[in-house]
Amino acid sequence: MYTKKSINKAILTLMSLCFFLASFSYASTSNKIGINYGRLGNNLPSPNESIEYLRSMKAGLVKIYDANPEVLKLLSGTKLRVSVMVTNEQISTIASDQSNANKWVQENVIPYYPKTQIRFILVGNEVFTNNDQKMWIDLVPAMRKIKNSLISQNIHNIKVGTPIAMDALQSTFPPSNGKFRSDIPNQVMISLLNFLNGTKSFFFLDVYPYFPWSKDPINMSLDYALLKSGGVTYKDPNSGLIYSNLLDQMLDSVVFAMRKLGFDDINMAVAETGWPNGGDVDEVGANVHNAATYNRNLVKKMTSNPPLGTPARPKIAIPTFIFSLYDENQKPGPGTERHWGLLHTDGRPIYEVDLTGRRAVNEYPVLPEPMNNRPYKGKIWCTVASNVSLSTMELGWALDFACGQGKGICDALAPGSMCYEPVSIVSHASYAFSSYWAKFKSSSGASCYFNGLAVQTTTDPSHGSCNFPSVLL
Ligand SMILES: *[C@@H]1O[C@H](CO)[C@@H](O)[C@H](O)[C@H]1NC(C)=O
Ligand SMILES: *[C@@H]1O[C@H](CO)[C@@H](O)[C@H](O)[C@H]1NC(C)=O
Ligand SMILES: *[C@@H]1O[C@H](CO)[C@@H](O)[C@H](O)[C@H]1NC(C)=O
Ligand SMILES: *[C@@H]1O[C@H](CO)[C@@H](O)[C@H](O)[C@H]1NC(C)=O
Repeated sequence: MYTKKSINKAILTLMSLCFFLASFSYASTSNKIGINYGRLGNNLPSPNESIEYLRSMKAGLVKIYDANPEVLKLLSGTKLRVSVMVTNEQISTIASDQSNANKWVQENVIPYYPKTQIRFILVGNEVFTNNDQKMWIDLVPAMRKIKNSLISQNIHNIKVGTPIAMDALQSTFPPSNGKFRSDIPNQVMISLLNFLNGTKSFFFLDVYPYFPWSKDPINMSLDYALLKSGGVTYKDPNSGLIYSNLLDQMLDSVVFAMRKLGFDDINMAVAETGWPNGGDVDEVGANVHNAATYNRNLVKKMTSNPPLGTPARPKIAIPTFIFSLYDENQKPGPGTERHWGLLHTDGRPIYEVDLTGRRAVNEYPVLPEPMNNRPYKGKIWCTVASNVSLSTMELGWALDFACGQGKGICDALAPGSMCYEPVSIVSHASYAFSSYWAKFKSSSGASCYFNGLAVQTTTDPSHGSCNFPSVLL
């Protein structure tokens, strides 16, 4: 998923990166809600167990971020409809030659289909969030070639799409102002829309009301972001349409952006949405209470019969994939990145949500009131996490990395300086993390993460005459 905060590039090179999305289709027997099954964790249940959990949750669809053979084989014979993905790295090769697309379909679809009910092939993930402009140009040719392969195999009920993040839009507010980014060549966007329209596919959107709300939690109503009904409404001054939640507003900004390019018939699908169940001290509103509220309201909205649609597209169903099945502990970036899950890694729900949409929102057990729905005010430090194994070599590397990011970051750690004592790697690394983060958080959006070695704390680790730098919120 995308985060608006730019993550320090140096950090990205140090750590592995990762990201994702979703898909769906409907049937009368099972439900319309899909789940994103991301696997960037080192503590996740096996694919076999995971599919069992998805079935017991009554998910209608599952979306994966690749075409993993084990997962696709295990899905065979289940009722789950499946969305598979061509990875970003594969796009240009597939775009360059029809035979490469045929090979991809031959290897990743034909062995499993139709026993595994593949319904969507998503080509790439948040391609316009990536700076690789060759990939932008190659995207639609790759999608066309995959579609050609399917047709030549006489497969007509698999739709081809591509998940796009909200950062592909230049303006989103008011929704009638929705417009795609001007650095994305018009021709690329028009050929994408032409393809989606001509194949009756969907515009797959990764859309998180959490991000705009958390940027302005004082002015923006939390209930509006959490899809609670009966709260504030917003009237778009140009269209006259009345909005009762932020998700509709965001979806319609894309509808208007497409309309400006002459396309008014392409249906929307939500490839990813959700709300973080936890996060760092500086991440407002990330808690189980809000995550449960958002996803329960979302399911109610998206499963309603007849469909609700959005103000600009009333009564049109929007296939929706929730992000994500699990908290994924190997996603880099801010703490929320590792807290989008519905299930603990032993399969127990982090909070209950009835994916069929039958359960009324007030029929769930009451969850504790959250403490972090207002922004934290005060100092925060970034120190070594308490569960880090002291013998880990990574801690030394992370210490060197932090100190190497600029003049003065670790001056206080030199022999004889204020923070030299105690001479321990944990103490030095904690100082270095705090110093690094205090220096770069506001300028480059650096996170207090260090590959899981660091955590934010509101407890001042300063000692004696050694003062740890802090971030002041
Ligand atoms: C998959 O899980 C089921 C029960 O959830 C179990 O009976 C079966 O043995 C498992 N298969 C494998 C290959 O692990
Ligand atoms: C809230 O709105 C006021 C008035 O429009 C504005 O000055 C302020 O910057 C906004 N706050 C945030 C956090 O954006
Ligand atoms: C979209 O497709 C429909 C046919 O399904 C066609 O009538 C319409 O002209 C297309 N729109 C554009 C802008 O090409
Ligand atoms: C430490 O615990 C946190 C959760 O409290 C977890 O996210 C992180 O992955 C753990 N780190 C290690 C090295 O086990």
